[in-house]
Amino acid sequence: MRLNSLPCPVPAEALLPSTLTRAGIQPTAPVGVFDSGIGGLSVLKALHAELPLEHFVYLDDSGFAPYGERGDAYVTERSRVVTQHLRRHHGIKALVIACNTATMAAVAQLRTEHPDLPIIGVEPGLKPAAAASHTKRVGVIGTRGTVTSAKFHALRRSLQDQAEYVVQPCDGLADAIHRSVASADLSNAIALCQKYISTMGRFGAQAGEIDTLVLGCTHYVFVQDQLAALVGPQVQIVSTGEPVARHTRRLLEAAQTLASAGPGRVQLTTTGDPALLQAAARCWLGFATEPAFEVRPEQALPLGL
Ligand code: DGL
Repeated sequence: MRLNSLPCPVPAEALLPSTLTRAGIQPTAPVGVFDSGIGGLSVLKALHAELPLEHFVYLDDSGFAPYGERGDAYVTERSRVVTQHLRRHHGIKALVIACNTATMAAVAQLRTEHPDLPIIGVEPGLKPAAAASHTKRVGVIGTRGTVTSAKFHALRRSLQDQAEYVVQPCDGLADAIHRSVASADLSNAIALCQKYISTMGRFGAQAGEIDTLVLGCTHYVFVQDQLAALVGPQVQIVSTGEPVARHTRRLLEAAQTLASAGPGRVQLTTTGDPALLQAAARCWLGFATEPAFEVRPEQALPLGL
């Protein structure tokens, strides 16, 4: 499967010119969205569908990715650097952490450091999956950082009477998906999906089989069709973009900072390769963005400042 065989609904000439961002928290300020790479585009797509009047600024931290196998201290520090950058340079009015790994490692720290900023995290949809499952056997795939985190264990424990969870860390899968954009070839990512899915036991609608699969990493949405083909048509796939977008709307409403006039602009920034982010966005978002550009966030201020 070649990536460039996917439909690319946004022609390059439809891209909007760059404009300056505003400073200060006001309804017209942007919502910041970040991920270790392109995975968070799946969340950005749902956010834009739910909140078409909002201006979004997306930060792809692929210059420092992957997060998933790096450990909490590293991921927390990157999350702090990126959040401070989005506040200082874009005056964001809310932050969506479009990354399960960063949410698990850093959401508590970020909320402590930015008590005035609404912060929305993403976490694997164990609860909706348990509700949707008939066999009460739910598969969960995610990065090692996510599925070994204390926050994930607490979530799993709190739902242990609702379903049995078969959890599989997928080392290297997010990175393979990211690289597939550069190489325009998904075959490595598909091979990893096959390897990990085959270790999880039987999928299907019969008692004892896994009938629901949770995508616990935002990158995995981009191989959702390939995963669906591997697990079969009787297995439902649960991802979290839409509930996160609805939650973001509720928080903006509560803070009375919902944008009331559009259209919203979408700005793409990256610590990695802007051409790669632009290519992924053009193929997968389905709406026009401003041209992606590179950013170099400064070191984060020390804790407590
Ligand atoms: N997209 C990120 C997540 O949802 C992780 C990707 C990575 O390993 O960097 O967990």
